[in-house]
Amino acid sequence: MSPSAFISLTSAVGLLTAASVFGQPIVQFINHVDCCLDTSGNSSHGDLNGLTGVAILGAYDVDFVRGVLDRDDMTVEFCSGACAMGRFRYFGLRDGSECVCGSTVQRIPPCNGGGCDVKKCAGNNSQSCGGTKKISLHENIYTTANGSYKSMASTKIALITVPEMLVRRVYWSQEATVAFECLAACHRSPDCLACAFVQSSRMCRLMRFAAVPSEVASEAQWVWVKL
Ligand SMILES: *[C@@H]1O[C@H](CO)[C@@H](O)[C@H](O)[C@H]1NC(C)=O
Ligand SMILES: *[C@@H]1O[C@H](CO)[C@@H](O)[C@H](O)[C@H]1NC(C)=O
Ligand SMILES: *[C@@H]1O[C@H](CO)[C@@H](O)[C@H](O)[C@H]1NC(C)=O
Repeated sequence: MSPSAFISLTSAVGLLTAASVFGQPIVQFINHVDCCLDTSGNSSHGDLNGLTGVAILGAYDVDFVRGVLDRDDMTVEFCSGACAMGRFRYFGLRDGSECVCGSTVQRIPPCNGGGCDVKKCAGNNSQSCGGTKKISLHENIYTTANGSYKSMASTKIALITVPEMLVRRVYWSQEATVAFECLAACHRSPDCLACAFVQSSRMCRLMRFAAVPSEVASEAQWVWVKL
């Protein structure tokens, strides 16, 4: 992929990102899960690599190679809110200022509670943001999580910019003749958090998290988001 292809993808979505917070699901509370061995950035432990391939999430720049959102105002709440844009269930704080997101923690190594108070969060030094090869693991509990869906205008939910070569990390596609078939396919897959049916090409876009890549927003008017 040439650098110019990436820049035009970024600028194309620039105008729309301002509207992104509208569809953000509401976090009811944040559950501190544990202090775990940090394997984020290691593709053989993909669980907290939800942001890998995402260059821009809402208003924030992401290190899309490492899948990390790095901010010097990082707090537990900030990371929670950023990961909530994609309706990620889990998030982790590491190295004082880095935030990672993921939908599952099946492949995370055993956690043993201690060692996460070494690094204080850059944006609030009363909070712990990891330790030596340790990550503070948290869970976003959303107000609704009952297996139903809501449809939203694709421009009203968090838009993301994804370099072309990494698009497959973010969503996958399959044929569908009608919208309901697309919805059913998303329902069957635990990896699918949102989906969009493209009428013109009869394709179903199944998203690994509920933030919409700009190219899907341009081809589908509506997106269903799992509640
Ligand atoms: C990634 O995980 C694998 C499997 O546990 C391990 O062998 C490898 O050393 C890890 N790589 C890094 C860079 O931590
Ligand atoms: C910093 O974190 C502590 C502990 O979570 C919290 O009680 C406090 O309100 C936070 N401070 C600010 C300014 O948000
Ligand atoms: C699921 O939650 C949504 C949003 O609160 C609500 O409209 C819907 O009726 C709920 N469905 C079930 C089966 O509880």
